[in-house]
Amino acid sequence: MYPELNGKVVVITGGSRGIGADTARAFAEEGARVAVLGRDRDALDRVAKETGGIGIVADVTDLAAIEDARRRVEAELGPADVVCAFAGGGIARPGPTAAMSEEEWHSVVDGNLTATFLTLKSFLPGMQERRAGAIVTMSSSAGRMPSNLPSAGGREMGNPWGAPVAYEAAKAGIQALTRHVAAEVGGDGVRVNCVAPAAIRTERTERFMPREVQDFVAASHPLGRMGEARDVASAAMFLASAQSSWLTGLTLDVAGGKIML
Ligand SMILES: NC(=O)c1ccc[n+]([C@@H]2O[C@H](COP(=O)([O-])OP(=O)(O)OC[C@H]3O[C@@H](n4cnc5c(N)ncnc54)[C@H](OP(=O)(O)O)[C@@H]3O)[C@@H](O)[C@H]2O)c1
Repeated sequence: MYPELNGKVVVITGGSRGIGADTARAFAEEGARVAVLGRDRDALDRVAKETGGIGIVADVTDLAAIEDARRRVEAELGPADVVCAFAGGGIARPGPTAAMSEEEWHSVVDGNLTATFLTLKSFLPGMQERRAGAIVTMSSSAGRMPSNLPSAGGREMGNPWGAPVAYEAAKAGIQALTRHVAAEVGGDGVRVNCVAPAAIRTERTERFMPREVQDFVAASHPLGRMGEARDVASAAMFLASAQSSWLTGLTLDVAGGKIML
């Protein structure tokens, strides 16, 4: 679909599983040379083998680890043409804001917003120097709309708290980070866009979300189903390709109509 992605070097943080792994597979099918970053060596090796790319163990909350990974990508594949900063982590329980511990707050903000900042910090200078590059960051519909609104259906699903507040704040922060950097580096030939998925089916949701909850969540999207990781991968490929060459600073809601802005 995107012949211009053939041979491009694509780095995907959070590429060891879930949305990131499917995005790596989708780029590889277009002929891209992919590098997946994560912390689980075995999972990274599996994705690297499937995609013909490389898997690099790197904690993206640690700038030195990202810098090492970037140097390895440059040495083995060449400079990055595309970076999908998709890793998202941190641990916090849903609950009242005042009950969230500082540790939970920092772990989720670091695992999402700071990790995205550090990834951009590492990869941007080379892209600016080469006057070419496309970056796609990862927000969430939780960064668009509070997930604890009564209309979000949390009561019916047994979780009136929605996503932890730190997750919503971090994912909204990623949208602002994306816009700021897009305005800053547009003149250098680098585009920065964001995807904001609603509920996406992954191995994790299959394992932890009971079938009746999945049905409820599916029905809450106007298109009547949960998203697939491939829906997000398709959006990322479009934003990375020349087909979106006049788009930057955009947050694209990959949300089955649940978010309409
Ligand atoms: N699934 C959804 O419904 C949904 C909706 C909106 C947004 N999102 C966002 O989409 C992204 C992927 O979600 P997913 O559902 O595919 O999650 P997932 O299956 O849990 O995968 C998370 C990925 O991020 C990596 N990761 C987490 N913390 C990391 C760290 N400190 N350093 C390096 N890698 C790290 C994990 O790697 P290791 O396991 O190898 O450490 C894994 O590859 C996340 O940013 C998430 O917030 C998901």
